Amino acid sequence: MDSATTIVIFGASGDLTSHKLIPALYENFVKKRLPPRTQILGISRTPMSDEAFRKRLLSSSSEVLGKENVASSWSEFAPSVHYYAADVSKEASYPLIEQAVRELEGSNPSRRIYYLALAPELYLHTIEYLGKAGMARPDGGWRRIIIEKPFGRDLTSTRVLNQKLHAVFDESQVYRIDHYLGKETIQNLLVLRFANTIFEPVWNRNFIEHVQITVAEAGGIGSRAGYYETAGVLRDVFQNHLLQLLTLIAMEIPSRFEANTLRDEKVKVLDAVRLPKSDDVEQYSVLGQYQGYHSESGVAPDSRTPTFAALRLNIDNWRWQDVPFYLRSGKAMAAKMSEAVIQFRCPPHMIFDVPRGETLHCNQLVVTVQPDEGIHLTFMTKVPDAGMKLHESNLYFHYRDSYEKIPVLDSYERLLLDAIKGDASLFIRQDEIERAWQIIDPVIEGWSARTASSLLPQYPRGSWGPAEADALLKQEGRSWVNGASLHHDR
Ligand SMILES: NC(=O)c1ccc[n+]([C@@H]2O[C@H](COP(=O)([O-])OP(=O)(O)OC[C@H]3O[C@@H](n4cnc5c(N)ncnc54)[C@H](OP(=O)(O)O)[C@@H]3O)[C@@H](O)[C@H]2O)c1
Repeated sequence: MDSATTIVIFGASGDLTSHKLIPALYENFVKKRLPPRTQILGISRTPMSDEAFRKRLLSSSSEVLGKENVASSWSEFAPSVHYYAADVSKEASYPLIEQAVRELEGSNPSRRIYYLALAPELYLHTIEYLGKAGMARPDGGWRRIIIEKPFGRDLTSTRVLNQKLHAVFDESQVYRIDHYLGKETIQNLLVLRFANTIFEPVWNRNFIEHVQITVAEAGGIGSRAGYYETAGVLRDVFQNHLLQLLTLIAMEIPSRFEANTLRDEKVKVLDAVRLPKSDDVEQYSVLGQYQGYHSESGVAPDSRTPTFAALRLNIDNWRWQDVPFYLRSGKAMAAKMSEAVIQFRCPPHMIFDVPRGETLHCNQLVVTVQPDEGIHLTFMTKVPDAGMKLHESNLYFHYRDSYEKIPVLDSYERLLLDAIKGDASLFIRQDEIERAWQIIDPVIEGWSARTASSLLPQYPRGSWGPAEADALLKQEGRSWVNGASLHHDR
């Protein structure tokens, strides 16, 4: 008989489980990608029967995937979903959880994933008690643990968490998730760079003038003040998503597409990022807060939590010396949009006239992560029958046009499957996450000293951030590209 595979989700009654994990597991089930005898066991404190748990998940999965898509196979999927009510902060719960898992698995060696879909305050206890109950031991099969972001809130807490983790699990058992890495366009960035020869010769300081990475949210913080007030934008997205995008753009070519070789190259980039200094943060970064943030439910009236940040980083190596990387993210911005803009240098000598009032557009490669996953390359063309008038044109690739019948995969669908297969390529390694905090910590420290006595610059909802962010680039002779992919009609 095949070994059982069990996905034990801690935090089963929560939002992540209902709206991301179960829909992703359901989709994998429908596509017949889950191993035979896969079972899901949800754990949280709310008392619930298996039936009640399944009913609730049917409703949330229908919201996410559409009723008609879920109706077809839910009755086949549902029997593999189970629930056990337990408090993970109590050591005594773990032998009972172990027993509940064993009952599902039978006596053969089994494979298990523990998914921590819990508030981060519960991570340390959960990890320690899993260890004490012997639940991390492979027992002839395997045991893996997936940990959600936020992973730590600074370098010190991250090191503590990593130490506790390694007291129980070997690094090879640990899957630190950043769902950004599960997005198709992020992986396509690797394919674009490493499966084509035309980009590599120009992918360096000789041809690239600067790089911009923007992760913009149109919505405010909604009902997440409890989390956001303690995190702020730098912890929420810079330390993870934005730095991950930076590593994929800046990394050297790994010798193989394999978890450790890939991650070795990413760590080398992070190692080469010049560490920001906390005493001159205003020289290279800007924070902001959207207007009305103080009126959001759960936000302190004098809150200094940044909802926007812009940051210049430099990478000290041969490929990138003197090429600034500008990172920017905010809530309540003009659009929900994530993209990286690779700005190429302008021609060193221009033989064509640029009419007065017009600017020369130098080549840009735009990688859009969302909403409309794709790649644009801008280049100059001659306008027909208009002398030597030039016009900026675009080459487009968009997933929805090219793969109409294949829907773009949800990140969790891909990442959960990778974890089941034991492929950690798209998960964050210990050294990667620690170095990322080392880069972001001084920025947070520098600003927390400054903002103690002054409010943050405000920006209107629906804008591209405070004027100070524009000034940051202007003083360096550049400007932000605001939603390059949004403006181009195809
Ligand atoms: N939601 C997302 O889309 C998303 C995205 C990225 C990362 N994350 C991260 O994922 C984690 C979970 O987020 P979430 O949005 O799902 O939070 P949530 O909706 O607040 O869910 C938290 C879950 O933890 C359970 N829980 C709390 N205390 C417990 C205890 N002592 N013992 C057992 N279970 C306990 C809760 O259930 P009971 O009250 O029934 O015990 C609930 O099921 C967080 O770390 C978050 O930062 C979430």
